[in-house]
Amino acid sequence: MTELNFKVDEELCVGCGECVSDCPLLVLTMVDDLPRVAATRSQMCINCQHCLMVCPVGAISISGAAPADCLPLKGMLPEADKMETLIRGRRSIRRYEDENLDSALVRHLLEVAWQAPTGMNARQVLFTVVDDKTVMARLRAEVMARLAELVTAGRLPEGHSESFSGFVKQWQEKGIDIIFRGAPHLLITSAPTNCPCPEPDCLIALSYFELLAQSMGVGTVWDGMATRALNEFMPEFKEKLGIPADHRFGYAMAFGKPAVKYHRTGSLRTAAINRVDF
Ligand SMILES: Cc1cc2nc3c(=O)[nH]c(=O)nc-3n(C[C@H](O)[C@H](O)[C@H](O)COP(=O)(O)O)c2cc1C
Repeated sequence: MTELNFKVDEELCVGCGECVSDCPLLVLTMVDDLPRVAATRSQMCINCQHCLMVCPVGAISISGAAPADCLPLKGMLPEADKMETLIRGRRSIRRYEDENLDSALVRHLLEVAWQAPTGMNARQVLFTVVDDKTVMARLRAEVMARLAELVTAGRLPEGHSESFSGFVKQWQEKGIDIIFRGAPHLLITSAPTNCPCPEPDCLIALSYFELLAQSMGVGTVWDGMATRALNEFMPEFKEKLGIPADHRFGYAMAFGKPAVKYHRTGSLRTAAINRVDF
């Protein structure tokens, strides 16, 4: 656990107690109208920084994070109708330009997506990224070659043999890449198997990545085929890709500059809702 280092600017603090009320682990308590760490609870802090974020006057710092390091929220949140259109209008992109995205943009997307929530605020999701199309081309070629070997040796699991041998054939005969959809980049999330919620953490981080990416004109596609190929059929690629041995492979997402533009959302479908009433 990181050092708590909880500090209150006593000149600024108005004693409203919002930090105490919002602390999910009851680490804070009011003493003489000032928030303090409760002696018996300090080890419980999960460093969520709610105390810092909820303070109306910016009086609180914790674990080395101060109000000056944070972004103000007032007037900065997207309007609900824009968020709705983003959610309804994002699409799986399966046609990409053969070019690298700007590396600063990729870095920015990763930095922001990494802020996604994680169980117990573990924040242990690792982003393994292929941010160079020449590296992606080598990876694609190796994965296809290995898949071809597995197909020839009849070593693909029951139920996948036919589809994946078809993908290999498409690649070998026509250069069509169904596994990575021809994308110039790939993002894989992983997390230590012993962190509280590795699977949801990995999927949530990718969901956030996808929405931010698509809001910035970057195409994405959830890559179940690559996940299956890399994680199940050729687990040796985990090490080759630099994913730590003690990590659970989360999921893969291909991304890059889209070579397709969508002009409208799909027709508005009705959600399946089971309304509980007892
Ligand atoms: C978990 C998951 C895995 C997916 N795997 C693939 C994949 O391997 N290849 C692919 O082309 N699309 C894949 N997709 C995309 C879905 O086919 C797509 O989301 C669905 O057809 C709806 O289209 P839309 O995303 O454009 O709305 C995947 C989507 C999800 C959520």
